[in-house]
Amino acid sequence: MAKGRSRGQKWTQAFFMLSFLLLLMLFTLGILSLSNSTDGSPRSEGFGERVEQWTETLSWEPRVFIYHNFLSKEECEHIVSLAKPHMRKSTVVDSKTGRGIESRVRTSSGMFLHRGQDIIIRDLERRIADFTLIPVEHGEGLQVLHYEVGQKYEPHFDFFHNELYTKNGGQRLATLLMYLSDVEEGGETVFPAANQNFSSVPWWDELSECGKKGLSVKPKMGDAVLFWSMSPNGKLDPLSLHGSCPVIRGDKWSSTKWMRIEEFKV
Ligand SMILES: *[C@@H]1O[C@H](CO)[C@@H](O)[C@H](O)[C@H]1NC(C)=O
Repeated sequence: MAKGRSRGQKWTQAFFMLSFLLLLMLFTLGILSLSNSTDGSPRSEGFGERVEQWTETLSWEPRVFIYHNFLSKEECEHIVSLAKPHMRKSTVVDSKTGRGIESRVRTSSGMFLHRGQDIIIRDLERRIADFTLIPVEHGEGLQVLHYEVGQKYEPHFDFFHNELYTKNGGQRLATLLMYLSDVEEGGETVFPAANQNFSSVPWWDELSECGKKGLSVKPKMGDAVLFWSMSPNGKLDPLSLHGSCPVIRGDKWSSTKWMRIEEFKV
């Protein structure tokens, strides 16, 4: 009897010991996976409430991807509040003089933030580097844009034809467009040269007349669109032609991060 009980106690002890070791192992593994940022989730936690993020491939010709909920609502509002007091009429590059001039082609207003301007911007720029795999140092300062009813940017390329602009950083490689507000109607980002059936997008029926002239993305607060101005072979991609459709109802706030092929010194 006594022998049986002590054997039973031994088994119980061994059981607890094993359970403890097992828990210890799970705990250690848990800690390891928490500190590991190579699992595809963004490294930076960011400011504000994070909601589910996913990536959508919109097109391979040109290469266009949507990062849903890339920014939190709080981040969007923060960027708008930084920019609002400094908005000025947008310009385009004059092909003769290389200087910025006002134009009917681009009727928004805008301003530039400094790279790493504050902790929230630094964190966002870190996240952009994580998602695009282009180093922070290759990025220009964020541009913030505001489009009111009727304002637009006609289809254009982000790469430069003027060597004046490629001295620092080289050619523009890719662009991340971030929507800082919802737009009730219009204001789509349109890719008129995309090699794809434009009407295959699920939001086709909600697009404006302008939006239906290409492969279009409807602006949604927090979403970001990444597109590449250069192909993997290093050539400029003429299919990357894109524009901002006129806003029909509401207004549109967006922010642009241009990324160069080399370090962009600020
Ligand atoms: C384009 O896509 C739409 C919606 O999926 C489809 O109805 C239409 O037939 C397609 N057009 C062509 C030319 O493939």
